[in-house]
Formats: sequence, structure tokens, C-alpha cells
Amino acid sequence: MNFQRTVCLLLCAWAVAAEVLDFEDKSPNDLCYICSCNEGHTEIDCSRRGLRDLPGGLDAKVKKLNISNNEIATFPEGLSKLSNLIKLDISGNRLTELPKNGLSNLSALEELNLSRNYLENWITMSPNDFLVPAVNLKVLDLSYNRFKSMDNLAKIELLISSSLETLIMDHCEIESISGNSMLSGLGNIKVLKLNYNPLVTLQGLISPTLRSLYVNNCQLTSIEQNELSYLPSLIHLLMAHNYRLELADLHSTSLRFLDISYCNVLRPNLNGFPNLKKALVNHNMIRFLRSYEFINNTKLEYLDLSYNNIGSIKADTFRGLGLLKYLDLSWNEIGMIPEGALLEMPSLSQLKLARNYLNQVGHIKSISLTTLDMSACEIHTIGKDSLEGLQSLIDLDLSRNLLSHIPDSISSNTLKYLNLNYNRLSMVNNFTFFMLPRLTGLAVVGNRFTNVWNKAYFDSNLYLERLDLSDNMWRCDCRDANMYDFFEFVTLEPFKKEESYNLVCSSPVNVIGQAWLEACYFIWYPTQNVANADSLIWFIVVMITGLALCILLVNCIRNSMKRRLRAIQAERERQVEEARDRLRQLRLRAEQESLINAPDPRDLIAPPSYDEALTMPKLNSSTHSLCDAGTGKTKKRRGRRKTKSSGDLLDETERNGDLPVFEDTELSETPDNNRRRRRRPPRRFGSHEIAELEHSPGARRRQVSEYEAGDDSVTIEIEAEMERPRNRRHSGGDEPRESNF
Ligand SMILES: *[C@@H]1O[C@H](CO)[C@@H](O)[C@H](O)[C@H]1NC(C)=O
Ligand SMILES: *[C@@H]1O[C@H](CO)[C@@H](O)[C@H](O)[C@H]1NC(C)=O
Ligand SMILES: *[C@@H]1O[C@H](CO)[C@@H](O)[C@H](O)[C@H]1NC(C)=O
Ligand SMILES: *[C@@H]1O[C@H](CO)[C@@H](O)[C@H](O)[C@H]1NC(C)=O
Ligand SMILES: *[C@@H]1O[C@H](CO)[C@@H](O)[C@H](O)[C@H]1NC(C)=O
Repeated sequence: MNFQRTVCLLLCAWAVAAEVLDFEDKSPNDLCYICSCNEGHTEIDCSRRGLRDLPGGLDAKVKKLNISNNEIATFPEGLSKLSNLIKLDISGNRLTELPKNGLSNLSALEELNLSRNYLENWITMSPNDFLVPAVNLKVLDLSYNRFKSMDNLAKIELLISSSLETLIMDHCEIESISGNSMLSGLGNIKVLKLNYNPLVTLQGLISPTLRSLYVNNCQLTSIEQNELSYLPSLIHLLMAHNYRLELADLHSTSLRFLDISYCNVLRPNLNGFPNLKKALVNHNMIRFLRSYEFINNTKLEYLDLSYNNIGSIKADTFRGLGLLKYLDLSWNEIGMIPEGALLEMPSLSQLKLARNYLNQVGHIKSISLTTLDMSACEIHTIGKDSLEGLQSLIDLDLSRNLLSHIPDSISSNTLKYLNLNYNRLSMVNNFTFFMLPRLTGLAVVGNRFTNVWNKAYFDSNLYLERLDLSDNMWRCDCRDANMYDFFEFVTLEPFKKEESYNLVCSSPVNVIGQAWLEACYFIWYPTQNVANADSLIWFIVVMITGLALCILLVNCIRNSMKRRLRAIQAERERQVEEARDRLRQLRLRAEQESLINAPDPRDLIAPPSYDEALTMPKLNSSTHSLCDAGTGKTKKRRGRRKTKSSGDLLDETERNGDLPVFEDTELSETPDNNRRRRRRPPRRFGSHEIAELEHSPGARRRQVSEYEAGDDSVTIEIEAEMERPRNRRHSGGDEPRESNF
């Protein structure tokens, strides 16, 4: 029975929980629990969630949906709800086919990523229909599918979309494109990427709109001569890393950018591209450049011919390159630059000739060249007038050559940076840089200089800012004043030209490997020892001063803290005083009020309590005397009682000046009672009782005898003694007070 009930309860709970979960499943919050959403739930990222279908909770708000890297095997139908979807990423799933109406209602879709799926056949994509509903689709990524071929011998295999601009089919194992143009159904195609496909040839690419064609890393061997003429809008053609590709006499008037690096080009053959601006022909097999090689490339601005085997250049090779600014001929086999060759390029500003077989700088002429790199060229000679033909030269790199001598008065009015690193130079003199008035930076790292330079070498180089002198074999003759002079010239701020640690001695033996400064320190600064003693004294003085300052500071802090503490103390006392005052006033007022409101004290006299009665003197006399006593003594007692109470008050005011004791007020709510009690500790010996005793000597004697043994007797007597004068006094000062009541 009990067990059944439990089970029932559990089931109920489960049902409720399921209900709740179900409910939450449908709320967008839960979608965002599974996936990550942006603030307005317009961008949902459900990638890598192991999903097999769309998650629940998606609604038309969604603009970007990422369901990449899941287990989706059939194209999700629920997508048609998402009429505002702009970007859809289904890459990395298991789609093998695409349904005809898969994108129906997705009229806002602009980017669709279907890469890394299992689409194997062009036909299974429903190419005629699939993209049609997505009237705004711009980008379709189909890379990393395995199409094998894009042959479309029958028209039905055309991919049709009037809006698509970018089609990406990298890594698709496509071997051939043949038949009718695969692009003819794409009326707005601009970019086609076919990188990393084992394509041997390009054929049947017809598109009046295509601007960029990417066929890098394919296996192209040749392109038909008129192939590009079917692509009249082509601007970018990228065909790098087709290791067997040669350039036939291709022709395109629209082409502006050509990348044919890492191919098998034997001749640049760029004449068919009159509007070319940038050409990368590096890493090819070009062996020579003929006359008028680039005669039609009048728009060319950037030409990279590096890493070829160019051995010879004609004086008129570069004719026609009127706009060329950058020419890279490095890593070739050029032995000589014909004198006027660069003059054909009136706009050339950067020329790279590194790693060629030039053995002298020669007499290059260019009116525009600013940067010339002739590093690693086996150059051993530079003529005195070598630079005179380079009227705009600013930066000359002659590093890693075989130069052992720089002629005197090598001249250039514009040269600013001269790099002579890693040559074999061992000597410069007063006249070496004499004719380089603009020289700003000079580098001679890794040469063979031994004699320390003289700062007079740079007398005419007013702009010199930087000298790289490291890695030379300086002989440190510290006693030579010139060395110190030059050291200062090079390292002294604010005109420092080199770090002092880069200046290292190679001889004599005793200072090998030491920096100049280290080696020559005690010779250059002989007073340093004294200075050291001085500095020790200084150090001590500074230390002592510092210590004193520290102590002063600590004292200051301590004093200020003390002062603050004192202030706090004073403030606290003042507050206590105030509180006391206030209480005092309150008490006074309370007392006055109580006095005013007090009933006639005579009414307060109650009949004696039982205890009191017991202590009262026994009536020995006759009732007469009692009567007498009754009339007389009662009055008397009353008076005394009254006197007593007002006397108490008076007494108190007397004792404490005119103010009552603070502690008392604090300690008890009924100070009067308390005080009264204290005033006459054993209640039995209250003033009136004692007065009473006085009147009956017999009784008194008896009373005293009761307490004879012990201190109490003394107390009693003292008490009695004390009571008496007070009573006397009070009875005297009673009258005016009495009148107050
Ligand atoms: C989708 O998610 C994957 C993996 O998290 C990411 O690499 C990709 O860039 C995302 N796609 C978009 C369109 O943001
Ligand atoms: C298409 O989107 C509209 C909203 O724009 C929606 O009402 C309609 O149900 C959607 N059609 C389908 C088949 O989901
Ligand atoms: C498509 O997704 C892949 C990752 O799967 C990504 O590398 C690629 O860049 C995406 N394509 C586009 C156009 O964003
Ligand atoms: C250079 O261009 C002209 C037209 O601009 C053309 O007639 C000529 O054939 C081209 N030269 C080469 C070698 O292609
Ligand atoms: C270089 O000039 C300095 C000073 O102008 C002079 O003392 C020195 O002898 C000259 N050296 C040579 C090698 O001409």
C-alpha cells in the first residue's frame, strides 16, 4: 500500500518535471541554454553540440545561425520558419544531399556555409532548384565536399542562382570542369574559388561577371590561349603553386592582378595583360629577360621576378614600364645591370637585386630609385662615382658582399642609410664619407676594422644619428686620446650613435672580449678611486640623512596620532560631561516635579509595618500616657518623619555642593529610597526610632543590650550619635522648607 503510494508520487513528480522541462524546451531561454545566443537572440551558435536536427525554440527573429560541426544528416526542414535568416553555417555535418526546397522562405539569406559535408555528387545538390528561393544569397561555401567532377554534360546539372556572388569549392577533389559552363546559371557570380583541386586544365568557364578566379594549388598544366577571353570582367587571377603550369600567350584586357608564383613559367609573357598592375612571377623558371619583355605593361606598378634563374637583362628589357614602382629581381643569376636599364622605369623607387651575381656596383642610373638592395651579391668593387647616377637614392644595402675598400669621396647628395655590414672593410678615413652630406645611418657590423676611428671622419656628416660598429676587431689602445674621443663621440648622450657594449676589443691580448669602456675604464677615469672614496662618504651621508628623515617621519606620525588620540579622549570626556549635565538636569527636574507632585508627606505616613511595630518600644505606661504620647508624639514623629525626608534632600544637596552625585542617579531609579536606606543601614535604627529610644531610656538600654556582644553595638551607638545632631540641625532649618509644601 505504502510502496504503491510512493511510486505514484514519484510518477507524479516525474510528470510535473517533464511538463516543466517540456515547457522550457519550447522557450527561447532553453534554446540559449543549449546554444549560445546574443542579447536579442538574433545570433545563435549551436556549433559542436552533437545535434542531429535543428534545436527547438528557433523563431523568425534569428538572423545568424551556426549549426556547424554537428551530426546533421538531412537538411533541416525547420529552417523555412526562419524567414529573417541572413547567415547560416551548416559546415561540418553529414549532409549527403540537398532537397529542392531546402531554402524555401529564406529570402533574406546571404551566406550559406555547406563546407565539410558529405556531398559527393553534383546532382544530389538539386543544383537547379536548391538556391533559387534564396534570392539574396551572396556567398555559398561548398569546400571540403567530394564532388570529383563538375562535368555537366546535360543542362540539368547547372547550379542556378541569380544573386550568388561568391562560390567557394576549395578542396573538393574536382578533377575536371567540362561541358557547358558551370557558371552560366550564376548570373551574378563574381568570385570563384577552386583552390586545392586536382584540376589539370580550365575549360568552359564562361561568365561575363566573374572578377576573381582562384585556382591556387591545383595541378594545372596549361590554360588555353583564349580561355580568359570568356571571362571579360576578370580582374584577379591567382594560379600560384601549379608546378607544371606555363603561361601561354594569354590575353585579358581586364586583368589587373596576376599571381603565377611557384609555377613553371619560362617566360614572363605578360604582354597580353595591358592593364596589369601587379604581377607575382616569383619562384619560376625564367632564365632571361628579352628586349621589350614588358612593352605592353604600361600600367604595371609591382613586379616580382625573384627566385628565378634570370641570368641576363637587356638594356631595353624594361622599356614600357612607365609606372613600375617596385621591382624584385633578387635570388636570380644576374651578373650585370646594363647601365641604362633602370632609366626605362622612370617611376621605379625600390629595386631588389639581392643574391645575384653582381660583382660590382657599377654605374646604375635611375632618377627615381630611392631604395636599392644589393646585398649578398659578391660585390667587391664600388666605384667612387657609382652612386652618382642614382639621383634619389636614400637607402643602399651593400651588406654581405666582398667589399674590402670604399673609395675616398664616394658621393651622393641624397644617401641617408648605408649598410656595409658583413663585408671585409678594414679602413676608412677622413674622406670616405666626406661626400655623403645626408648620411644618417651607417652600419659596418662584422667587418675587419682594427684601428679605432676618428670622429673627424664624420666632420661633414651633420645628420649622423646611428653608427653600428659591433663585431669588428678593434684594437684598444686606451692611452690613445683618439680612442676616448671617438668613444665619447659615439656613446655620449644626447647624440648617442651606438650602445657602448657593442664596442668590444679584440686586441691586445689582455683585453680581448672586453668592452671598450671596461678595458679602458681606469685609464680614462684615473680619479675614479678617489671618486669612489668620495662616493662612499656620500653614500654614508645620504644614508644617515635618509635614516634621520625616516626617524623624523615616524615621530611626526606618532605625534600626530597621539594628538588625535588626545583629541578623541577630550571629545569623549566632553560628551560624558554633557551627558552627565543632561542627566543631572533631568534628575533635578524630575525631583522638582516629584516634589511638586508629591502628596502631602504627612499622608505618606503609613501605620508602622509589622516589623516596625515589633521594634517599637513596648507600651509600659498606661493608656493615658499612650493617649498623651499618641497626641503629642505622633505629631512629633510626623514632624520628624517629614523633617527627615526633606532633610535627606537637604543633606544631600549640602554634601555634593548643590548637585546630587552622578553615580547615584545612574545606579538607581529611586535614589531617595536607596540613599535613605543607606543613610540608616539597619532599618531598625532609623533616626526616628533612635529618637524614640532616646525618649524611653529603658527600652534603649534593653535594645542595646540585645546587641552588646559584637561590633554592632558600636555601630548602633555611632549611628545614634550621628543621627542626633542631624536631627537637631534639621529641626532647626525645617520651618522655611515646610512652608514650601
Ligand atoms: C560557427 O562555429 C564554428 C565553430 O565554433 C566557427 O569556427 C565558425 O566560425 C562559426 N561560424 C560563423 C559563421 O560564425
Ligand atoms: C514563411 O515565412 C512567413 C513569415 O515571413 C511565415 O508566416 C510562413 O509560415 C513561412 N513559411 C513556411 C513554409 O514556414
Ligand atoms: C565555412 O566554414 C568553414 C569551417 O567549417 C570555414 O573555414 C569557412 O571559412 C567558412 N566559410 C565562410 C565563407 O565563412
Ligand atoms: C601589345 O598591345 C598591343 C595593343 O595595345 C597589341 O596590339 C600587341 O599585340 C601587344 N603585344 C603583345 C606582344 O602582345
Ligand atoms: C683627419 O682629420 C684630422 C683633423 O681634421 C687630422 O688630425 C688627421 O690627421 C686627418 N687624418 C687623415 C688620415 O687625413
